[in-house]
Amino acid sequence: MSGIFSSSLGKKLIMSITGLFLMLFLVVHLTTNLLLLVGDGSLYNRAAHALATIPLLRIVEFLLAFGFFFHIVYATIITLKNQRTRPIGYNKTASNRVTTWPSKNMYILGFAILAFLVLHLINFFLKLRFGEAPYVEGTEMHNTYLLVSSFFAKYWWYNLIYVISAVLLGLHLSHGFWSAFHTIGLNNNKWLNRLESFAYVYAVIVAVGFTIIPIYFWFAR
Ligand code: HEM
Repeated sequence: MSGIFSSSLGKKLIMSITGLFLMLFLVVHLTTNLLLLVGDGSLYNRAAHALATIPLLRIVEFLLAFGFFFHIVYATIITLKNQRTRPIGYNKTASNRVTTWPSKNMYILGFAILAFLVLHLINFFLKLRFGEAPYVEGTEMHNTYLLVSSFFAKYWWYNLIYVISAVLLGLHLSHGFWSAFHTIGLNNNKWLNRLESFAYVYAVIVAVGFTIIPIYFWFAR
């Protein structure tokens, strides 16, 4: 069993499973955050409050941290190993998808996303958990809407960082999504082609979704 963590395939399998888990998180995170654009923000505040206080979801938060940790650690191990040995290469007959720009720059893209994530957690998560985030008047519920909307209305350079990061995330996902299924063992070409189209749609939705939020608050200020 311990062999799976040290074998090449085992490492890629861990990257794929953690990657798919993180992609699922992004769907939930984007859906919640798009509520920022609905009404006066009270719906978003209630959703954010529920997600932050439901005990089961605190466990998911730990899983998420583990997911990120293992995804990053194994990406580093695999990249370093690939640099030392000549990469064997993927199944070249599948399509030319393995030689796209994102596929060749997954580690750099991932590193940029990690840098964004650190900044992002400082911007919101740490303020909500340990800082001076505002509360909805007369309640013990954070006014996450006010925190996020005033943040995006105030700093144009943060808006730019969020937009660029969303695009980089989209590029990372456009290859990562397909690659995860390929590693898991899906090697039927018809399905890989379908999955590739689905991966692009997913990546564009995530990139556009996370882009419109800062832009919206910048122009609505
Ligand atoms: C416009 C874009 C985004 C907005 C408005 C946003 C908003 C937020 C907020 C308000 C929190 C704190 C939630 C809480 O602790 O109660 C949070 C946490 C978090 N965000 Fe984002 N986010 C955005 C984009 C992203 C992106 C692109 C990623 C991934 C690359 C990401 C990953 C995370 C993670 C991992 C957490 C900590 C876990 C959690 O609290 O759910 N976010 N985000």
